[in-house]
Amino acid sequence: VIKRAFSTTTAKTAIKNVTVIGGGLMGSGIAQVAAQAGQNVTLVEINENLIQKAQSSITVSLGRVAKKLYKDNPEEGKTFIKNAQARIRGSTNPAEAVKEADLVIEAIIENIDLKHKLFKMLDKAAPAKTLFASNTSSLSIGEIASVTNRKDRFGGLHFFNPVPVMKLLEVVRIPETSDETYRAFMDWGKSIGKTCITCKDTPGFVVNRLLIPYKLEAFRMYERGDASFEDIDIAMKLGAGYPMGPFELSDYTGLDLSKDILEGWHKKFPDDPLFKPVPIVEKMVAEGKLGRKSGEGFYKYKK
Ligand code: NAI
Repeated sequence: VIKRAFSTTTAKTAIKNVTVIGGGLMGSGIAQVAAQAGQNVTLVEINENLIQKAQSSITVSLGRVAKKLYKDNPEEGKTFIKNAQARIRGSTNPAEAVKEADLVIEAIIENIDLKHKLFKMLDKAAPAKTLFASNTSSLSIGEIASVTNRKDRFGGLHFFNPVPVMKLLEVVRIPETSDETYRAFMDWGKSIGKTCITCKDTPGFVVNRLLIPYKLEAFRMYERGDASFEDIDIAMKLGAGYPMGPFELSDYTGLDLSKDILEGWHKKFPDDPLFKPVPIVEKMVAEGKLGRKSGEGFYKYKK
């Protein structure tokens, strides 16, 4: 199964050169999976230090993949790592980095003004054929694309954390996305070993639109004292077959992320009871209890 996920030969794509803007948690994962699939990747960050940081995290992650794929042949594993690394070059110059790009994927911080500024500039710098995509979790793809003159060559490519492990890719179409662009996105998604689903540009797309209200309802249940959070986690694992309970999952993805997404949706849909604020999340984030990454969320973690 793992072999298939990382296969480079199962799907054809016309996309050879991929530029990823933002080399944080998601961008470095996206750069990695494209390089693993044999594509040339340019990874853009705001300074050299951050490029190096992204490259080290990619090396660690490639090591994990190689260990699984080549457990009986470590030499081949080393070659796999070297080849993938050689296909990723770093850049701090986004305008130059998109000159040869077939596809640009934006994975910078979740801020509409910064994304607008970036795409306005990229739209002028990139060749006409270049396809643009955003990996945003909670902003509207149409709103991001609105500052460009290539809405027909724009869409959402929404990945899941950790990118090299999670098999799903949500391919988001805005009304203007052309059939050709859509097909190119789907083919590219397959070429990097993902299973693609298609959806419209609605808040949370598919996964987060269902997952976030579910997690919020779990928080509210705990807030009311209906059950302990540990018992709610046990219940959903053993009763619904979920691999993690809602509190474990929130600790894993970060409570700050849940809070930011919720705030954005509440602002947009103030009357929707599904998105009404949850005091316990706000309190925990204010106390720095962000989940695994801060050492404590609902549960405590060894740092
Ligand atoms: P992150 O904070 O780990 O990475 C963002 C990176 O972008 C930082 O390294 C920052 O230095 C860089 N950056 C900021 N402005 C830049 C610019 N103008 N040019 C180049 N680089 C720039 O954030 P993360 O978690 O990787 O999220 C990135 C995007 O992916 C966001 O839009 C988020 O909504 C989305 N996303 C996040 C998921 C998650 O689980 N964290 C899942 C799916 C999507």
